[in-house]
Amino acid sequence: MGLVPTITPILDHDAELAKAEAGVAQFAASRNDRWYPKFHIASDGGWINDPNGLCYYRGRWHVFYQLHPFDTQWGQCHWGHVSSADMVTWRREPIAMAPSLEEEKDGVYSGSAAIGDDGTLRFYYTGHRNLADAIDPKRSLEVQLLATAQDDDAIRLTKHGMVIDCPRAEVDSDFRDPKVWKTGGIWYMTFGVSSAHKRGQMWLYTSQDMIEWSFERVLFEHPDPDVFMLECPDFFPVTGPDGEEKWVIGFSAMGSKPHGFMNRNASNAGYMIGSWTPGEVFRPESEFRLWDWGHNFYAPQSFTAPDGRQIMYGWMSPFAGSAPMQEDGWCGQLTLPREITLGADGDLHTSPVKEVSALRAGSADLGAIELQANEEHIIVDDAEAVEVELTLNLARSTAERMGLKIHATNDDSYTYVAYDDQLGRVVIDRQAAACGDRGYRAAPLSDEELSKGVIDLRLFIDRGSIEVYVNGGRQVLSSYSYPSEGPRAIKLTSESGVAHTDALKIHQLRSIGLE
Ligand code: FRU
Repeated sequence: MGLVPTITPILDHDAELAKAEAGVAQFAASRNDRWYPKFHIASDGGWINDPNGLCYYRGRWHVFYQLHPFDTQWGQCHWGHVSSADMVTWRREPIAMAPSLEEEKDGVYSGSAAIGDDGTLRFYYTGHRNLADAIDPKRSLEVQLLATAQDDDAIRLTKHGMVIDCPRAEVDSDFRDPKVWKTGGIWYMTFGVSSAHKRGQMWLYTSQDMIEWSFERVLFEHPDPDVFMLECPDFFPVTGPDGEEKWVIGFSAMGSKPHGFMNRNASNAGYMIGSWTPGEVFRPESEFRLWDWGHNFYAPQSFTAPDGRQIMYGWMSPFAGSAPMQEDGWCGQLTLPREITLGADGDLHTSPVKEVSALRAGSADLGAIELQANEEHIIVDDAEAVEVELTLNLARSTAERMGLKIHATNDDSYTYVAYDDQLGRVVIDRQAAACGDRGYRAAPLSDEELSKGVIDLRLFIDRGSIEVYVNGGRQVLSSYSYPSEGPRAIKLTSESGVAHTDALKIHQLRSIGLE
């Protein structure tokens, strides 16, 4: 390795950024908004994937994301950018990074933010180069790069080039998505690696000055030999109600196979809780658990807010084939920001940050409702962007399934969010969806939750998606749902048995300002 950092500009960055802005603007000019989110972060046009560079810096929250400005399919990764003073109303910022260095010529891939000892906002990210040939059509070279913010609003970034080269003999191409933090006076970086033996690993580097990094060890290797890469790894401490500190590793596992209700998506994002002492490997004390049980959740990233909260955004990945929104000039949105906490049950809970409640603009309290067997009750005639708080009384209900049909249109299509008493789970069932991928997903409830006889559901219904938080975020499901034309009703439904709700509230939600 030569000088650190190593930088080889090959294109004029400002010119590349201008082309990218023009690409997005072209899509935005003719965008169809039927499914475009009102309260989720998305690009004006083009494709987005992973949240990147999450941070709070000099009075504003920043969310960057992977962006393809020239297509509604994945490709040519740039970094898009939005920011907010309150995590409620967002401002669209200029595109932050386009490929312009040899080290990142085929993509400015995912990465994270860290505020250095000198107060400078730094971004560590992966530069991707295609080296495909006839023998290995997937061969590539990935290295870790550094950029810093030039201004208080992180609008203009300065690229500094490569800080970690790839030891290619030890790596099967995948070597990406750095996450940086400080513990005990030392800066650490971990990222995902596919080892020469095609095992999914997280490697650990250390630094004193955030520029020169030394390899320390393999922090973690996934025990499942099918898992060949851990994308977008995350690593942070959490403290439980008993005051005990645990460390959490998060990652998006490529290669994991579906079994039962688990790992139903093409790749699956989850976590393990365990312990870590600097200078050692991470020791898992839990099995792998999903962050989110929905059809469309991947590549989350978290960061520590100044008040100590650990806040996570995920990407609602389309996964299955083409996504209908691609015809509309855009593709992909992020989830709501979720606070990660360690509950008394020893598991992580993720629920929307408290700021999200400020989106409410008018509420209706429908109180307790009883439905006879196989009854349907329209609770909203036309919901574009709403939050529903629903308490189902399991003890008083005999229904096999009960819940809400959302995005219910006159052609009888809908997406069903229900408690399924045979499974003892909360499901999102898209078998009657107007378009897009179908199938159902099912989040578990513990024996302790089921024995309470009530479950609380909090649903966030946007124009083309649904997020369901179960019992204060003990489980979550996030899925796209594309309604057909006309009014989008919400119907309370019981199947084969009576259904009792103890409470039902509906809140209209206002736009976050990015439409
Ligand atoms: C995850 C991912 C990352 C990579 C980025 C490229 O979705 O594949 O590993 O950095 O997307 O867009």
